[in-house]
Amino acid sequence: MANAAELTVDGKSYSFPTLEGSEHEKAFDISNLRDQTGYVTLDRGYKNTGATQSGITFLDGEEGILRYRGYSIEDLASKASFLEVAYLLIYGELPTQDEFATFETAIRRHTLVNEDMRKIFDGFPVNAHPMAVLSSLVSAMSAFYPDSYDDTAEASTDQHIIRLMAKLPTIATWSYKRSLGHPINYPKNNLDYIPNFLNMMFALPVEDYKVDPVVAEALNVLLILHADHEQNCSTSTVRLVGSSKANLYSSISAGVSALWGPLHGGANQEVIEMLEEIKNGGGDVNKYIDMAKNAKTTGFRLFGFGHRVYKNFDPRARIIKKAADDVLAKLGVNDPVLEIAKGLEEAALNDEYFVSRKLYPNVDFYSGIIYRALGIPTNMFTVMFAIGRLPGWIAQWKEMREQKEPIGRPRQIYTGATLREFKSIEQR
Ligand code: SDX
Repeated sequence: MANAAELTVDGKSYSFPTLEGSEHEKAFDISNLRDQTGYVTLDRGYKNTGATQSGITFLDGEEGILRYRGYSIEDLASKASFLEVAYLLIYGELPTQDEFATFETAIRRHTLVNEDMRKIFDGFPVNAHPMAVLSSLVSAMSAFYPDSYDDTAEASTDQHIIRLMAKLPTIATWSYKRSLGHPINYPKNNLDYIPNFLNMMFALPVEDYKVDPVVAEALNVLLILHADHEQNCSTSTVRLVGSSKANLYSSISAGVSALWGPLHGGANQEVIEMLEEIKNGGGDVNKYIDMAKNAKTTGFRLFGFGHRVYKNFDPRARIIKKAADDVLAKLGVNDPVLEIAKGLEEAALNDEYFVSRKLYPNVDFYSGIIYRALGIPTNMFTVMFAIGRLPGWIAQWKEMREQKEPIGRPRQIYTGATLREFKSIEQR
């Protein structure tokens, strides 16, 4: 008999089945809790609640382990290309050469965005935050591809996956070029995925642009490291929106919006702005450590630190920290902010407040330093996170649909006014 969890409440005993995943994570299955007991659970922020069973990404917060479909993040970051990892996440296996060629060629041939989308784009203020533009234009894609509402057209799901993977980088570069007053660049079919993105970001009509292989390789690693992270805030948003049978574009657009928050993907922009502030204020990292320790009065958080799941070093932060040294050295960039970051990390990791709360650098702490060295502006950092996370969002949405998950609809505990009689305005 499989393990069961016994619950005794109001003098009655109840039994609930338990289940164990392939990596020995355990859960109580409380699908019938309310029907049996009349109780629901309350778990703010879902810190203890599993929303689904998934075969995509495994992470162990205590051991600092991250694997996509069973492959370690260390292996994938050092040996794979971002599109190989995207295929792995979305379709479950590393592609054969033929499978990769078909996937990569399809993406290469769909990088153009409908010219009518530029009318929407041109309506934004020139200083619009690129995440506002990205979430809007991704949502607008559902208007341009109405067969995305047709859930029966299985083939069209793959087509929409290709369109999103292909067009997100194009859309992402538009807002940057416009913010500079530069003409936008069109994608080129003779360039690979990341060189194509770099060319659209940095090429100017007045001179030839040559992609630096060091920059392209660093971006390949960063996109892989951001590609998925099980049921994080933005991925849960994509799943929840998709669970209502909303189309893929609308679901991904919702994920972009959730990622923008400074407690989530928006943290990489906040980290650089925080490090710049420390540098410009004289580099006193201990002042900011103290501010963070008195968060209740200062309201200040050390961005790039802490994680809901990792209570040990975020394995991605470890890889990015090393890459930061390598990339800056190869590019001959001396960024004093990197030294500030290292000083801040050192001070925090030796401070009881952080140690006792198991607050370690997370993926956002060092990523901005590399993006900056690659010439990517701060307000584009979270857009880079979205480009990386796109295959993970797609994979999770696809799995949710294939597993025929029910519409997500959490319960609550009502704490408002009990029944009261309406009084006309004259009587109030
Ligand atoms: C990402 O979920 C994912 O997987 C996300 C992500 C992904 O790949 O999708 O990994 C990407 O979002 C990384 C996280 C980026 N966010 C930041 O760097 C923002 C700063 N970090 C925090 O806001 C916080 O650590 C969170 C939001 C990341 C996690 O918050 P939790 O799990 O809800 O933890 P908490 O807020 O309950 O904090 C626990 C304690 C509190 O102190 P006490 O109430 O016990 O006194 O730790 C403190 C917090 O005040 N704390 C911090 C802190 N983070 C938590 N104190 C100072 N600085 C911080 N950064």
